[in-house]
Amino acid sequence: MATCFRSFLLGSLMPLLVSGALLPAPQNITILSTNMKHFLVWSPLTALGEAVKYSVEFQGEYERDYANDSWIPIGECTGISATQCDITEDISATVPYNLRVRAALGTEVSRWATLNGLFNRVTTSLIPPMLNVMADGHHLLVELEHLGPAFEFLVRYWRKGQEDQVYEKVVRDSNTTVHLETMEAGAEYCVKAQTYVEAINRSSNFSQAQCVKATESKAFSVMFAPIFFVAFVVAVFILFLLAWKTCQLCQYSCCPNEGLPDTLKLTESPAGILNYRGEEAEKCDMSVHVQPPDELLRFWIHDAL
Ligand SMILES: *[C@@H]1O[C@H](CO)[C@@H](O)[C@H](O)[C@H]1NC(C)=O
Ligand SMILES: *[C@@H]1O[C@H](CO)[C@@H](O)[C@H](O)[C@H]1NC(C)=O
Ligand SMILES: *[C@@H]1O[C@H](CO)[C@@H](O)[C@H](O)[C@H]1NC(C)=O
Ligand SMILES: *[C@@H]1O[C@H](CO)[C@@H](O)[C@H](O)[C@H]1NC(C)=O
Ligand SMILES: *[C@@H]1O[C@H](CO)[C@@H](O)[C@H](O)[C@H]1NC(C)=O
Repeated sequence: MATCFRSFLLGSLMPLLVSGALLPAPQNITILSTNMKHFLVWSPLTALGEAVKYSVEFQGEYERDYANDSWIPIGECTGISATQCDITEDISATVPYNLRVRAALGTEVSRWATLNGLFNRVTTSLIPPMLNVMADGHHLLVELEHLGPAFEFLVRYWRKGQEDQVYEKVVRDSNTTVHLETMEAGAEYCVKAQTYVEAINRSSNFSQAQCVKATESKAFSVMFAPIFFVAFVVAVFILFLLAWKTCQLCQYSCCPNEGLPDTLKLTESPAGILNYRGEEAEKCDMSVHVQPPDELLRFWIHDAL
């Protein structure tokens, strides 16, 4: 009670005594806290114009109970003309905080105006997370809003029409795209998520479910069929070309058909031709370049007659 009175004396009366003037204190001091981001806001002293500067101080449980009821100035919110202050960094524990603001105009300062009641970050509004559900081929993927390291996500997903079988996944790093499931072709899957903040042991509501359809396997083959077909045609063509080239080489090196008299060819009986073919094959097998063409020819002719 004594410390409280001293604080009151120092906080509100001293400036008055020092300056002798009556600069009004800021009004309507409130906290806006969403998704663990906290702002102190107040109404501006409009009558006094732009020159008014504000300063903010806070007091945690420790300062209140063990440090003589002292207040800690917030550096970024000292002598500012804005009528809001980001206090997220200063509210570092889940305990009740007190906050106060005062105005200054030239050498005049107002008394401190204190928040009506204490603020505990456990009361922050947790908004259902934004998510982006995608189907990449047969993969069910989800992209989650980035909310900072304090946040975890509980993702629930199910196959449409099988709502009794819901799967869950806890995601801690929201910066990466998360793979949830390999989908059955043509089936539709739905995903929803909620945030969880361990520091305050609270969860947001679930987001609206978002559904995506897996691509049909037919569509998949239709998409790739032309590529397979082209590859097949090219392969067949190359094989054919190779076979033809090999044949040609074999023919030229061991069994030339040049120089064979036309008369001989014409007078051959089918049996004879078969015979030669047999010989030819044998010679080809034995070696590729032993027999000079002329000798071979003479041999064939001799054999035929
Ligand atoms: C405080 O808020 C109330 C209601 O929101 C408003 O009517 C009043 O003008 C505000 N006070 C100042 C000083 O702006
Ligand atoms: C609290 O105030 C008393 C008396 O003013 C002083 O002796 C003491 O050192 C102060 N303690 C702290 C932690 O500032
Ligand atoms: C996550 O992404 C945000 C911006 O998208 C970036 O600021 C942050 O550093 C990233 N965090 C990690 C751990 O990669
Ligand atoms: C978190 O809250 C739930 C109830 O909502 C409770 O059962 C659980 O024990 C709490 N966990 C911690 C670590 O406080
Ligand atoms: C969460 O859902 C409940 C029940 O549907 C609703 O009453 C509550 O207002 C919702 N909370 C938020 C923060 O949207």
